[in-house]
Amino acid sequence: MDTPELGLLEHRLLFVTGKGGVGKTSVSAALAMLAASRGKRVLVVQVDAEGGLPGVLESGPIAYDPIEVSPNLWAMSVDTEEALREYIRRQLRLPIITRLGPLARSFDFVANAAPGVKELLVIGKIMWEIREKSYDLVVVDSSASGHVVSQLSAPNAVNELVQVGRIREQTQWMIDLLADPVVTGAVIVTTPEEMPVTEAIELLDRLESETDVNVAAIVVNKVLPELFGRGEQEVFDALNSVEGRRAFAQVLGDDPAALLDGADLASRLRRSRGKHLERLRSGIPGDRPMIFLPQLFSASHGIRSTRELAEAFDDEIGEA
Ligand SMILES: Nc1ncnc2c1ncn2[C@@H]1O[C@H](COP(=O)(O)OP(=O)(O)O)[C@@H](O)[C@H]1O
Ligand SMILES: [Mg+2]
Repeated sequence: MDTPELGLLEHRLLFVTGKGGVGKTSVSAALAMLAASRGKRVLVVQVDAEGGLPGVLESGPIAYDPIEVSPNLWAMSVDTEEALREYIRRQLRLPIITRLGPLARSFDFVANAAPGVKELLVIGKIMWEIREKSYDLVVVDSSASGHVVSQLSAPNAVNELVQVGRIREQTQWMIDLLADPVVTGAVIVTTPEEMPVTEAIELLDRLESETDVNVAAIVVNKVLPELFGRGEQEVFDALNSVEGRRAFAQVLGDDPAALLDGADLASRLRRSRGKHLERLRSGIPGDRPMIFLPQLFSASHGIRSTRELAEAFDDEIGEA
C-alpha cells in the first residue's frame, strides 16, 4: 500500500503494537502526551486489562468510561464484556443489563465459534469513540504482535461471515476507516535486540498481508547513546590494553579495571544492538519512517520517563 506523506500525529487512530516488553505502553503514553501538548484532544486506550497505562501516566485507575488525566488527554480501558454490554444497550436497544448471565454464555459460544467477534467488539468500541466523540487522535496501546493482527482484521472476518443486514452495515464503516491510511496507522515498536527485531519484521509482513491497516511508523525504542566515535574507540582500545591499563593505573594511583570494564561493556552492548539495528533496516522497506527513542536510565518508570520519551519523539518527528 502507498504510504501517504502524512505526519504520524495527523492520523486519527494509531494502534501501537510489537513484542511484549519492548515499550508499547510507554510509547503509547508518550505519543498521546506529545499530541495533547500540541493542543490535540487525545484519547489513549488500554486494551489489555493488565496494561500499565495508569503507571506510565501516574493517573490512578482508568476504566471503560474515559477520564481526563491531564489537559487534553483522556484515558480509558476497554474490555470485551463491557463492550458487549454497551453494544447490546445501544444497538439492540435492550434495557441496561447489569449482569449478562445466560446472554454472556451464549455470546461466548458464538464468539468462540466465529473468529473475530470478540475482537470486533473491542475494535468497534474504539472506532465508535473516534466517530462519535470529537477526539483528534486516539492512540491504542494494543495487544502484542500475534493478537493485534486478528483484532485489526476482525471487521473483515465478520463482514465475510455476515453477508447482509445490520452487522454488515456496522462493520463496513469500520473497514473503511481502518483501511484509510489518512485515518488509521499501525505503529510497530521494537528494540535493537534479537527477538524484538525478528518479531517486528514478521509483524510488518503480517499486518500488510492480513489486514488493511497501513504501517505508519516503526519505533526503535531503547537505543543506546553512542559512547565513542572512531577516534575515541582507538584511544579506548589503547587504554584498555595490558600496557595501557598499567600506565593508567600509575597515573590514577588506583586500579582502573572496573572503569574500563564498564565502558567496554557499554560499548560492546551498543555494537551488538547496532548489529540488530542493521538487520531491522535490511528487513524493512526503506520508505517506512523509523523513529529512534533513547534508552532511559532513570530509576522510576512513571510520568517523568513518559515525558522524556515524549520529548524524544518531538525531536524525532518534528512538526508532523
Ligand atoms: N526507552 C526506554 N528506556 C528505558 N526503559 C524503558 C524504555 N521504554 C520502556 N522502558 C521500560 O521497559 C519496560 C517495558 O515497557 P512497557 O512500555 O511496559 O512495554 P510493553 O507495553 O511493550 O510490554 C518497562 O519497565 C518500561 O519502563
Ligand atoms: Mg504494555
